[in-house]
Amino acid sequence: MSNKEEKPADQNQSTWKDFIFNPRSGEFMGRTASSWALILLFYLVFYGFLAGLFTLTMWVMLQTLDDNAPKYCDRVPSPGLVIRPKTLDIVYNKSDSSKYSHYVQHLESFLQQYNDVDQDKKQPCVSGTYSIQDNETLPKNSCPFKRSLLGQCSGLHDPNFGYSEGKPCILVKMNRIIGLKPLGDPFINCTIKKEGSDFNMVYFPATKNFDLMYFPYYGKKAHETYVQPLIAVKLMLEKKDYDNVITVECKIEGSSNLKNDDERDKFLGRVIFTVKITE
Ligand SMILES: *[C@@H]1O[C@H](CO)[C@@H](O)[C@H](O)[C@H]1NC(C)=O
Ligand SMILES: *[C@@H]1O[C@H](CO)[C@@H](O)[C@H](O)[C@H]1NC(C)=O
Ligand SMILES: *[C@@H]1O[C@H](CO)[C@@H](O)[C@H](O)[C@H]1NC(C)=O
Repeated sequence: MSNKEEKPADQNQSTWKDFIFNPRSGEFMGRTASSWALILLFYLVFYGFLAGLFTLTMWVMLQTLDDNAPKYCDRVPSPGLVIRPKTLDIVYNKSDSSKYSHYVQHLESFLQQYNDVDQDKKQPCVSGTYSIQDNETLPKNSCPFKRSLLGQCSGLHDPNFGYSEGKPCILVKMNRIIGLKPLGDPFINCTIKKEGSDFNMVYFPATKNFDLMYFPYYGKKAHETYVQPLIAVKLMLEKKDYDNVITVECKIEGSSNLKNDDERDKFLGRVIFTVKITE
């Protein structure tokens, strides 16, 4: 019984062995040595060619790139608006400094790059005109924006940026977009969204506008010392406004090529944030 089964198993094994190496024909895995050599050579040449082609096209494409600016911008985008401190819900107890110190520290560290000593080293620019520097000279000159322009919101006179007195400062800035030249005279307009609440807002600089001399921006590498212009808004809240969630919307206005009412993107040219102060 067992003999009958062993025979075919034996045969099977021998054909399997023959497949691995057949001593009669000298074939290894069904191919002769020269056949294997040819097939290996073919794949070597084939993949070598593919690798070479890939390297060549990559190299050619990299030659056409500019270190300083993206090659393709599918649309001339409109910038988003952002605020500092970096939050959309400012909530704190004005009698408890531990509840607002992180906002104050954030503003202070953000404004370090705007320190007057650094900004004074820069070449002054002509207000109201674009700083066009389209020639090859690098690095590009960047126009000074001194934090002292932010007056009561500069942190120079009031190191608490108004947070301790319940009249907090918010900094508004526009995201950088390479090559953007705003038309007209872009300015920031903040409004209180909630019916019934009403308080003053004081802007620094008082003109509320982003001077055209800060545009266009040439990119991180070419425009190393560039700083974005800022508008500070001081919310002059009073006791009656405490404990309420106040919604404020700031929009960029006065410029026909800066969008501020896109249905799908609510940060395009505008920013909505809430403030709630307790005491
Ligand atoms: C605010 O902080 C003060 C002082 O710590 C405390 O007395 C008061 O109860 C706090 N107010 C609220 C609404 O938590
Ligand atoms: C590039 O432009 C700047 C300002 O317009 C000018 O001062 C500088 O000489 C120009 N450089 C070259 C190489 O043309
Ligand atoms: C600011 O926005 C409000 C509401 O959209 C508008 O009524 C007001 O006229 C704007 N202010 C300026 C100076 O454009």
